[in-house]
Order: sequence, then C-alpha cells, then structure tokens
Amino acid sequence: MKTYTRDLNAKNSPHSTPRKVFLLALILILLTIIPLCMKSSRSPLPSAKISISEYRKIEIQEKCNIFTGKWVPYPKGPYYTNTSCLLIIDQQNCMKFGRPDTEFMKWRWKPDKCDLPQFNPVQFLELVRGKSMAFVGDSVGRNQMQSLLCLLASVTYPEDISYKHTSNTDYFKRWFYADYNFTIATFWSPFLVEARDADPNGHSLNSLMNLYLDKADEAWVSEIENFDYVIISAGQWFFRPLIYYENHQVVGCHNCHIQNVTALPKYYGYRMAFRTAFRTLQSLKNYKGITFLRTFSPSHFENGDWDKGGNCVRTRPFTSQEIKLDGYIMKFYLTQVEELKAAEKEGMRKGLKFQLMDTTEIMLLRPDGHPNHYGHSLHRSTTVNDCVHWCLPGPIDTWNEFLLHMLKNVREY
Ligand SMILES: *[C@@H]1O[C@H](CO)[C@@H](O)[C@H](O)[C@H]1NC(C)=O
Ligand SMILES: *[C@@H]1O[C@H](CO)[C@@H](O)[C@H](O)[C@H]1NC(C)=O
Ligand SMILES: *[C@@H]1O[C@H](CO)[C@@H](O)[C@H](O)[C@H]1NC(C)=O
Repeated sequence: MKTYTRDLNAKNSPHSTPRKVFLLALILILLTIIPLCMKSSRSPLPSAKISISEYRKIEIQEKCNIFTGKWVPYPKGPYYTNTSCLLIIDQQNCMKFGRPDTEFMKWRWKPDKCDLPQFNPVQFLELVRGKSMAFVGDSVGRNQMQSLLCLLASVTYPEDISYKHTSNTDYFKRWFYADYNFTIATFWSPFLVEARDADPNGHSLNSLMNLYLDKADEAWVSEIENFDYVIISAGQWFFRPLIYYENHQVVGCHNCHIQNVTALPKYYGYRMAFRTAFRTLQSLKNYKGITFLRTFSPSHFENGDWDKGGNCVRTRPFTSQEIKLDGYIMKFYLTQVEELKAAEKEGMRKGLKFQLMDTTEIMLLRPDGHPNHYGHSLHRSTTVNDCVHWCLPGPIDTWNEFLLHMLKNVREY
C-alpha cells in the first residue's frame, strides 16, 4: 500500500489476601455493570453511559491513576536531543527544520496523586529482556516506537533487521537489541482490519476505501502470535470515506455519498475494527501477550481544516480550563475504551491481559507538540501542516513513561 501522504492527513508482586478480595469484588461488580451499559453491536452510535471517571476507577483500582493530572514545567528539558539520538526521522525532527521555540520540550506529566517515574532505559531493557514488542496501527503508533528508540538510545542502539522480515521496510520495521535479546516491531495497519482502495481514480488523501470490518488485517495477524507485548491503536484514518463490509456484504458507509448505501457514523467502523482486532487476538492459539490499547491521539488543527491550511502554532500546553475532552474525540475515546473493557472481561476467562493506556486527554492538552511545518516527510504535500504526529523529543515521550510504568505493574488476575 503506497499511502505515505495519508500519514499527514488529518484529521508483580503478589497481592495480599485482603487486596485480592477487594479486587475480586471490584471486578465482579464491574462484570455485572458493564454488559448492562453496552449497547448491541449494530447500534450506530456508541453508548456513552459509563463516565470517564468510572472507567478510570475500573482501570486503576486502589492505586494512583497516572492518567489524570496536569502538565507541569520541567526546566531540565527532554531525555534526548536530535544529536544524542540519531534515529529521529525527518518527519518528527522539528528542531532540525528550524522550529524556533523549545518550551514544548520542557514539560512533564504530573499525575494528581503520585509521581510518574522518570523513564529509566536500563530498567526498561531489563524488563523486556528476551521478549518482543509490537506496535500495531498507523503512523502515530510508529511515532511512539520512534520515541522509544530514542529513550533507549542512551544505553544502546538496535540493529535494523526489517529486511529479514519484509520488503516494505518503511512500513514494517523491526529492531533487534542484541544485548537484551529484545525485538521491537511495527506493523502498518491503520484500520486494524482489512482495507482496500475502492476509488476508481486510485488512492489519494481522501479517496474511498472498502473496510472489511469482521476481518482483521493479515499484515499483523499473521505475525503477532509470538509477541509478548502488543500496543494497538488507530485514529485519523477513520475520518476518510469508507464503505463498511461485514460477512462480504455492504452494511453501510461513512461519508461515501452512494445512493442506497446506508450512512453510518465513523464511530461504527471504529468500534467494529477494535472489536475484531481484540477478538482476533483472543482467538489466536499461541498468543500469550499483553495487549495495550493506546487511546485516540487528538490532532490540533486551528485556523482551518487539515486540508484547508489549518495549522498548530501554539507553543504552550492548554490548561484543563482551556479545553475539555468532548465532541468527536470523546466519542472515539469512549468507543474504543468500551471495546477494550469487553476484551478485558473476555480475556480474564482466557488468561489474556488487556490494558488501557489512556493518552487521549493528556494529549488533548498538548497543541504545542506537533511538527506543524517543522517536519519533513519525503512524500509530504507542502500545503498540509502536520498537527497529527508529535515532535521528537516531545510530549509523546510520556507515552513510554506510561509504558514502562505499566510493564512494571502488570496486574495479576
Ligand atoms: C539538531 O537541531 C539543531 C537545532 O537545534 C539543528 O541546527 C541541527 O541541524 C539538528 N541536527 C540534526 C542531526 O538533526
Ligand atoms: C531470545 O528470545 C527469544 C524469545 O523472544 C527466545 O526464544 C530465545 O531463546 C532467546 N535467545 C537467547 C539466546 O536467549
Ligand atoms: C441501488 O438500488 C437499485 C434499485 O434497487 C439497484 O439497482 C442498485 O444496484 C443499487 N445500488 C447499489 C450501489 O447497491
């Protein structure tokens, strides 16, 4: 799939007995509440009957919720620079292309009730020794992988072994840390399910595509079974015109304007894609990994739409008074979290862990973290500013602080 341009497009320690009992009770309560709150799969709109705070109570139990808090100034600045990390790609190397301000690199995420530990690359590498980690999704998922490579670069660089696994080495990357026998891979699958171009004029920024909502994309499914950690995400691609298929039949479409095809909201396709992805992971015989859902990453186009000159020129985070999680971002977020909760429940039965990496609201507060026009992609269309991806270094490094924290605290069921 030649779709570079679209990249820019738019839009364990054992628990003590009392804790265990408490946990069990919580889980039981949730198991009874959640099904009642979930609507049937055909419902065109996601139900939003569980509030965010309820979800978070679920996720975090009696521990500190690392995902609620605020950005605080951190004058010491980032973990790495474009000279200490040699793996920053041009698309995300904002300093190389003349971004004049540096304040955006000088903030840290401060959870309300605790501290998020600093990223410790040696600790990370020891935790993942002999293991493998896959990022499944679009270029924002790959952006997190790039951040991780830089965070680890102060200890060691990996070998690029992509060519041993694929001919499409831009989209399917594999890195091997020989000293730690640790593999990182990215699987390009922006819809998670199978997709094909459907526009007679071929692929372009906003061309029509067919989505096979009940068929997970073989590009990742065929190789995922042996991975120990899978970080899955999806986002902006669901805004484009899409025809939805289930069981080989057209069930509707989003933004397709075809007569007698039922219009369905973009949330419909988003929900079904995650449902299919999670169910597929559960059905794979040999999959024993931990699955992390990294939630929807908001874009920040202002002064116009992404394809109409919109840009992102802010140099400071928003405060929580300035912006609220609502509207379509909230719906995307809740849709995928509902599907994760269903997967988590089903996973418990099968001994598979599904966890929430709750990045939506924290990134909503970071309009200052995008490349805007200070990032250069080979295939970039010069009229489109990038307010989707994140500069490196930058706020996306926080996702890997979360990742390390979560790896250290993987819950025992
Ligand atoms: C790093 O950023 C500086 C500006 O801070 C820039 O002059 C330089 O070209 C960049 N170097 C690399 C290797 O990206
Ligand atoms: C490296 O890790 C893989 C699993 O990812 C394992 O199968 C293999 O035995 C390990 N090799 C060594 C030399 O430890
Ligand atoms: C729309 O309906 C007409 C008449 O029922 C049918 O002939 C046509 O094939 C339909 N078009 C599509 C795209 O399904």
